[in-house]
This record gives sequence, structure tokens and C-alpha cells, in this order.
Amino acid sequence: MTEVIPMSNKLGGKVAIITGGASGIGEATARLFANEGVRMVVIADIQDQLGKLVASSIGLHCCSYVRCDVTDENQVKCMVEATVQKYGTLDIMFSNAGTIHTNQTILDLDLEKMDRLFAINVRGMAACVKYAARAMVQGGVKGGSIICTASVRAKKGSPMLVDYGMSKHAVLGLIRSASCELGKYGIRVNCVSPAAVATPLVLKSFGYKDIETAENAFLSTTSMTELALTVNHVADAVLYLASDQSAFVSGHDLVVDGGYLSI
Ligand SMILES: NC(=O)c1ccc[n+]([C@@H]2O[C@H](COP(=O)([O-])OP(=O)(O)OC[C@H]3O[C@@H](n4cnc5c(N)ncnc54)[C@H](O)[C@@H]3O)[C@@H](O)[C@H]2O)c1
Repeated sequence: MTEVIPMSNKLGGKVAIITGGASGIGEATARLFANEGVRMVVIADIQDQLGKLVASSIGLHCCSYVRCDVTDENQVKCMVEATVQKYGTLDIMFSNAGTIHTNQTILDLDLEKMDRLFAINVRGMAACVKYAARAMVQGGVKGGSIICTASVRAKKGSPMLVDYGMSKHAVLGLIRSASCELGKYGIRVNCVSPAAVATPLVLKSFGYKDIETAENAFLSTTSMTELALTVNHVADAVLYLASDQSAFVSGHDLVVDGGYLSI
């Protein structure tokens, strides 16, 4: 793959971290950030080979990979501190790493599985928001932006995804609470809530054989029956929240669902 040449400058000179940036929504967002003139986007993930490949395909002048398991608070702390030390600041945190378990019904809820999911989707998100906010406050960053990935499951139940739905409701609580506290420092905290989008996570978890099959299956679930939701649509929403275009938007859940929640 060829190096990214910036096309626009919505993130001119900013430093960003994207957790779960080696794949799916995070990867697409890293590519878009690079296109928008980000000074450095740090991909933090546990898929080392893939993460390094993605970073070098974007261009090591504006993208780097670092291993960070978000379930380990100390790894999150070190990853954020190393970013600030290396690149001078942290302007954007996209806390996006997440996982899903299928067949988690309330009658057969596996609580150990739920704990493992919560360690990533809730505890990991909270750690990323905490250390990003600390770095921004301590660094006196103007216009810091923290974005988490929630889901339409933060607003609607699902019988098979009990723990996942709970975890994404918690993300809403996290961004709302953190936005109340951080506004006085000029830091905004928001989330994006995509409907089903064909990513490696979804393909593997729901057993779709390829992206096209998954996209076709999802078409009828939204009101946009002729257009499949892609990772790039979600990345566009993240870019809006990351950039100064959303300078007065905080505590907001930006749904990217083609009308799914309105049906
Ligand atoms: N795909 C969808 O339909 C959909 C819809 C709504 C929300 N989401 C959310 O979007 C986010 C991204 O998911 P995706 O669909 O792009 O999946 P994905 O599997 O393509 O990407 C998730 C990334 O997170 C990383 N990750 C997992 N556990 C980690 C950990 N402990 N520490 C660091 N990184 C870790 C994975 O290695 C992977 O690279 C998740 O929070 C997911 O819940 C996805």
C-alpha cells in the first residue's frame, strides 16, 4: 500500500491516539486522520503484526504503532505518557478498542465472560479517558477531544447481547460524566454509536463469510436500504468530533445508524 498524502487539514498538527486502531473502525479512522493532516496518530492495539503493518502503510512519518492492552491500567498510563513524551502533546483520544460476545442471554449469562468483556469495553474505556484527560489537563491542551465508541446497543436492548449492551450503556454514562467534569478545561468528551458494520469483529463473531455477505444482511436493518454502513462512515463521524468543527459539542452520542433507532 502507498503512503497517505494529506488531502485536507481538519486535524492540522494534532496528536491523536486510537485504541483498537489495527482493525475495522479504528484502522479506517487512523487512515482518515492521516488524510486530514494529523501530526501523529498512535495506533494502540494488541495485534502487533497487523498494527505495525497498518502504521507503515499509512506512513511512519505520521503514524506509529504501540502495543497496549487496555485492560491493564498501567499499560494505558504508559502508552499515554510515552505519546506525550515523544510527540509533545495529546490532542485527541479515540478510545475504540472493544469486543463482543454473542449468545449472552440473561437466562444463560456467563458472568466470567461478562467480566472479560467489561474489562475491555468499560474498564478499558474508562482508563483511556482517565489518562487522556490527565495528560490534556497537565499539558494545558486547548481544545482537547476525547471520543469513545459506544453502539446503537447503548440505546436499544438485544436478547443475545446482554453483556455487550450493558457495556455500551456504560460508555454513555462515562462520556456524560466525564464531559461534565472536563468542560472547564476546554476538553470535550463524546461518543459515536454505529449500527452494525462489517468489520473483522462482526464477521468472526456472527460467522459471516465475507464483508459483502455481512453488508447485505445488515441492509434491511436500517432505513437506508440501498446503502451499507461502512467503517468510513463511522470514521467521518469521529473526525467531526475530533476536529474543531465540533468545538461546542460535548457529552453527545453521535449515532451513525441510517435511522436504525428510529424504525
Ligand atoms: N462492527 C460493528 O458492528 C460495531 C457496531 C457498534 C460499535 N462497535 C464498536 O466499535 C469498536 C471497534 O470494533 P470493530 O467492529 O472495528 O472491531 P475490530 O475487531 O475490527 O477492531 C477492534 C480492535 O480492538 C482491538 N482490541 C481488542 N481488545 C483489545 C484490548 N484489550 N486492548 C487493545 N486493543 C484491543 C482488537 O485487536 C481490534 O484491532 C468496538 O468498541 C465495538 O464494540 C462495532
